[in-house]
Amino acid sequence: MLRRASLLLLVLGSGLSSCTYDNAEELLESKPLPACAEVAVTYSGTISPILDRNCRSCHNQLTPQANVNLEGYARVKPYADNGLLVGVSSHAPGFIPMPVGAARLSDCDIASLKTWVAAGAPDN
Ligand code: HEC
Repeated sequence: MLRRASLLLLVLGSGLSSCTYDNAEELLESKPLPACAEVAVTYSGTISPILDRNCRSCHNQLTPQANVNLEGYARVKPYADNGLLVGVSSHAPGFIPMPVGAARLSDCDIASLKTWVAAGAPDN
């Protein structure tokens, strides 16, 4: 009983703190976050690692969910150009939110995706 109660507190506690964090992040959404602003965004150094961490478990050569294969610059580029990459990752209205079954990417990661796409999604 005691154990169950403290587990509940733990769950509630982490829920509350992540809520607060999300709200604070949302307030900052239109401004570049300090931690992101100083980083030069590149495909190889920034974008590909974000896709590795969050997307390629499902969108790879062998099991391309929804027929979307995000392995390699040439396959990612069309999704940058047609708006889907930023749309699904930022949970923009009208897009299917990604990643399926997991939390939205950090604001920093989303800002990096937007910066890269806005720069024309270069192969750098
Ligand atoms: C756990 C598996 C999984 C992960 C992780 C995942 N996706 Fe998906 N993705 C799917 C599935 C399943 C669909 C098809 C969803 C549907 O049609 O309802 C999909 C669909 C898509 C589509 C097509 C959307 C459309 O409207 O045609 C894109 C683009 C996409 N995902 C990009 C991403 C990106 C970018 C990430 C990482 C931020 C990601 N996905 C992470 C499983 C995943």
